[in-house]
Amino acid sequence: MKTHTQPVIGVLGGGQLARMLALAGYPLGMRFVFFDPDPNACAGQVGPLISAGYDDTRALDEFMQRVDVVTFDFENVPLSTVRYVQQRRAVYPDPDVLEISQDRLLEKRFFQRLDLPVGPFFPVNSFSELAFGAKSYDFEGFLKTRRMGYDGKGQFRITPGADLKAIWQQAAGQPLVLEKRVGFKREISVISVRDSDGQILQYAITENKHNNGILATSTAPARHSENAQKAQEYARRIATELAYVGVLVVEFFETGEGVLINEMAPRVHNSGHWTIEGAMTSQFENHLRAVCGWPLGMTDSWGYAAMLNWIGSVPDIAHMPKQPHIHHHLYGKQPRPGRKVGHTTITAEGPAHLQQKVVAFAKQLSDSLNAAG
Ligand SMILES: Nc1ncnc2c1ncn2[C@@H]1O[C@H](COP(=O)(O)OP(=O)(O)O)[C@@H](O)[C@H]1O
Ligand SMILES: [Mg+2]
Repeated sequence: MKTHTQPVIGVLGGGQLARMLALAGYPLGMRFVFFDPDPNACAGQVGPLISAGYDDTRALDEFMQRVDVVTFDFENVPLSTVRYVQQRRAVYPDPDVLEISQDRLLEKRFFQRLDLPVGPFFPVNSFSELAFGAKSYDFEGFLKTRRMGYDGKGQFRITPGADLKAIWQQAAGQPLVLEKRVGFKREISVISVRDSDGQILQYAITENKHNNGILATSTAPARHSENAQKAQEYARRIATELAYVGVLVVEFFETGEGVLINEMAPRVHNSGHWTIEGAMTSQFENHLRAVCGWPLGMTDSWGYAAMLNWIGSVPDIAHMPKQPHIHHHLYGKQPRPGRKVGHTTITAEGPAHLQQKVVAFAKQLSDSLNAAG
C-alpha cells in the first residue's frame, strides 16, 4: 500500500524506537500517533500518545481512526491487539512475523525450516528436562523464557557450578528453551530493509558487544570476513520468505566455523542506531519509507561509526563541548539500573581514526565524571 504525502503513522509501543521513528519522519512531513499502556512512554514527549491497555478496543478504535498505516516498536505487543488493528488498517511488518518472533522456540524452528544454521537448543518443560539438557551441554548454556525476553531479561546462565534447582524455581511456570552456550568470536547483526515490491537493501554489517545480555556498543562497518557475507545472505532469505515489509534485524554469533543465527527482531533495532549519522538513509527513515510504500533510500555508510549505549544513567551533555563527530541521543526516560536511556554515536572516516575518537571521548567522559565526583 502506498500512502499519500503527509501520512499519519500509528506506532504500537511508545519507547525510544517509536520516538526515533518520529524524529526521522517529521522532516518528511509524516505525522505520528503512539499507543502505549504506559502514560509516561517517552515517545509521548515528541507526539500524541494514546495511553490505554492493549486490550482496550475503544482506545484502539480511536487510534485506528487517527492513522493511515500502523507499525510497532516492540515485538511483544499482544498478537490479538495487532490482529484487531489489522482488520481496519494495514500493519507492517505483517503480524504473522510477530507470531514467530514472539516465541524463541518457534523462531528457531522457523530458521531450521529454511535450512539456516542455529546453535543447539532444547525445549524445557520440566526440571528433569533442564537437568538432562544442562548435562548434555556440559553445563554451559542459557535457559531462556520462550516469550517476553529482551535486553538479557528472562535468561538464566547455566554454568558447571550453577544451582539448577534454584534456577528451576525462578524459571518454572513458563515455557522455556535451553540453549548451548556458543563460543563465538564476535557477535554481528545484519540490518535489512525490504519494500513491498520485494527490493531488499542492507546496511554494513555491524559488530555488537553485550554486557550481561544488554547491548553495550555497535561498530560498523565490521571488520570483513567471509562468514559475514553469509550472514547477509541468510538475512535476505528470511526477509524474502516472510514477504517482509520494513526493517528486519538478524543477530548472529560468528564462530570459527561460520555464523549461527541468534535471533531476529521484526523492527528497527538498537544495533542500527549508528545509521542515523553513519549511513545515507537511517534505519528509521527506511522503515517508514517501506511501511508507507515510498521508495527506499540508499543504505551505504558515510564512513565508520561506533555507537555507545547509555544504560542506567546519561552523561551530563549540558556541560560537554559540542564536537562535530559526536552525536548524543537521550530518550527522555527516567534512569533506572539496566534501562537503556540514550546512546552516543561517534563517526570517523576510517577505522583507526574512529578508534582514536572513541578513546578520546572515553577520556573526556571519565575526566568530566572525576570533575563532578
Ligand atoms: N546461546 C548463547 N551463547 C552465547 N551467548 C549467548 C547465548 N544466548 C545469549 N547470549 C548472550 O546474551 C545476549 C542476549 O541474548 P539474546 O538471546 O539475544 O536475548 P535478548 O532477546 O535479550 O536480546 C546475546 O547477544 C549474547 O551476547
Ligand atoms: Mg538479542
